[in-house]
Amino acid sequence: MSNDKTKHATLHLLPPLPYPDNALDPVISANTIGFHYGKHHKGYVDNLNKLVEGTEFADLKLEKIITETAGKSDKTAIFNNAAQTWNHSFYWNSLKPKGGGEPPAALKQKIEASFGTLDACKKELAAAGMTQFGSGWVWLVLDGDKLKVVKTGNADVPLTTGMKPLLTIDVWEHAYYLDYQNRRADYLNAVLDKLINWDFAAKNLG
Ligand SMILES: [Fe+2]
Repeated sequence: MSNDKTKHATLHLLPPLPYPDNALDPVISANTIGFHYGKHHKGYVDNLNKLVEGTEFADLKLEKIITETAGKSDKTAIFNNAAQTWNHSFYWNSLKPKGGGEPPAALKQKIEASFGTLDACKKELAAAGMTQFGSGWVWLVLDGDKLKVVKTGNADVPLTTGMKPLLTIDVWEHAYYLDYQNRRADYLNAVLDKLINWDFAAKNLG
């Protein structure tokens, strides 16, 4: 730990993408990643750094900023940019080239215990994504001992309600509009079949 008392707070950094920007093509194009990661995600990180500078949140870790500002109407801008920073990093890790397929055994067992079959779990994720009105996120979470599918609006994240996120899919239009226009279902199904990173979800299961 540093004892340096200068005003420089810890800057939040845009984490590197876990794969090249064209690695998810053709399901998600390099063009989409260019805007989504390079402009939207970067924008949230930059805004967050500006918003917390000189405030009580300047030296807090990202997760702490999210939980400390959730539900506080005078802290909405900080919450939104902090949560969107976290959500997008989590989303990039929820995808991988040549994803989809079968989850690792321990996760698959848990999925079958909670949903019956892997297919039922994927259908529930897609349905949640389709029924999230407007912008938001669909999540596979651990809630107590059970896996669940939940959806959140705008920047909201299940971290604030005591659930443990295992993976997420971004259903904001900026996630799919360049590649799929208004066909959100096609984006969701392609991501679930070809990109979803079950290894990441299994790792988060602990
Ligand atoms: Fe996004």
